[in-house]
Amino acid sequence: MQAIQDILVHGHDHIRTSLDRMNRSGRTVLLLVDTEGRLLRTVTDGDLRRLLLAGTGLDEMLEVLPPHQSWTVTEDTDADHVLELMNRHRIDQVPVVDDEGRPVHVHLRREIDRPILLSTPHLSEHERDFVEQAFATNWIAPLGPNVDAFERELAEKVGVGHAAALCSGTAAIHLGLKLLDVCPGDTVFCSSLTFVATANPIRYLGAEPVFIDSEPGTWNMSPAALERALSAANALGRLPKAVVPVGLYGQSPDMEAIVDICDRYGIPILEDAAESLGATCGRRAAGTFGRLGVYSFNGNKIITTSGGGMLVGDDPDLIEKARFLATQAREPAPHYQHVETGFNYRMSNILAGVGRGQLMVLDDRVAQRRAVFDRYVLGLGHLEGITWMPEAPGHHATRWLTTATIDPERTGITAGELVERLAESRIEARPVWKPMHRQPLFEDCEYWSHEPDRSVADELFQGGICLPSGSNLAPEAQRRVIDRIVDLVEESSPRSRLTVPESRAG
Ligand SMILES: Cc1ncc(COP(=O)(O)O)c(C=O)c1O
Repeated sequence: MQAIQDILVHGHDHIRTSLDRMNRSGRTVLLLVDTEGRLLRTVTDGDLRRLLLAGTGLDEMLEVLPPHQSWTVTEDTDADHVLELMNRHRIDQVPVVDDEGRPVHVHLRREIDRPILLSTPHLSEHERDFVEQAFATNWIAPLGPNVDAFERELAEKVGVGHAAALCSGTAAIHLGLKLLDVCPGDTVFCSSLTFVATANPIRYLGAEPVFIDSEPGTWNMSPAALERALSAANALGRLPKAVVPVGLYGQSPDMEAIVDICDRYGIPILEDAAESLGATCGRRAAGTFGRLGVYSFNGNKIITTSGGGMLVGDDPDLIEKARFLATQAREPAPHYQHVETGFNYRMSNILAGVGRGQLMVLDDRVAQRRAVFDRYVLGLGHLEGITWMPEAPGHHATRWLTTATIDPERTGITAGELVERLAESRIEARPVWKPMHRQPLFEDCEYWSHEPDRSVADELFQGGICLPSGSNLAPEAQRRVIDRIVDLVEESSPRSRLTVPESRAG
């Protein structure tokens, strides 16, 4: 954000220097202030042009400008009202003044009117170099030096032996389950509260998912439900081929407990860390606890290759087999020899270049997403009835998405209504994932709840909301989200009309 001082001018400033100031600041409006720093009027490029056309010289002072009433707002005017003012008066810039009438900020239409999205790609200055290298060396293929390096660098970053770069996280789950020998007629235990991409590959292989509930402490797979489900399956002699715990919204499940349970039954784990790259659980990276782990680099993820995924694990043979299957299972023969059914699942060398650049800023992205979360807590913490996704003891979440549950009894508004009302202000919020055991696609599947009569995934789906959380979400845009939520909750619930803290996000 630009410093307000860059666009302040005084009556004794010349038109020439003012035009120069506009040029340098890239702004089309300056703020004319008096000797006390109070706003007298806005000065647009149009105002200066008109003066020059009327014969005023470039070396005359701004005091020749006629008085003019400029529309201003105060610091607590919310974005919707500012936009309304802009529309009513057909202006694109509105100064914000303090109690003394001194300008502190200028709202720009292009910042205020822009839709605020849930999570958008955030590139650094590094990606282009790797991509240009790929072009320069003509490595435009689903293999090449960027692919090899991205695999090596990611494996090193998360502390795992090996990694195979693939075209999506879904492909990685599919291959991972295949490598764990999931076959038609098998069962796979899988988190219920997740995106459908976790469960679909189970069906690709002709197996059936059994869904496991979440626990309140991490919102992820409930060790208690898993234990009961495995014990029951064991008694029936129908243990699953694999367990797939998912790390949602940037937080790892309680992997230590889950590993412990699965080890007792001898069941391998495929950890779906599509949403939790960069998170840790007890100092170990999310995605590295199971026999295999999966990351996604879809456009909305914490780092992205526009589309892509990675299968990781410590067993070199498994990862090498993944690369083989992902390349049409082509046997090492000079002619095209095939023994097994393969897939076209490799990542391209160009996208791997994007991934290498993104990986260099992963730690920054985690810090930025956590800062977004902190600003929400600061700006909304005074409202009753909003409960943030907890960060379990010993965990370090990335806060990939800031998520919370909304208690309609206390806020006067449901999570669903809040999502709809925010959309009216061009703010994209989303409900928490609809659990898989509630999906028509999986209506016949078994489901194990956290407690016999308590389904945490259902509670989270009922009350959960994901807020715009991009690492590139500007503080002013986030302020717009916070202000809108405060207004909506205050409108809905007289009881939550508490004192607004002095410092909000921004
Ligand atoms: C939990 C989860 N699993 C798997 C995937 C699939 O990843 P991809 O989109 O890269 O196929 C996603 C995201 O898209 C996800 O959120």
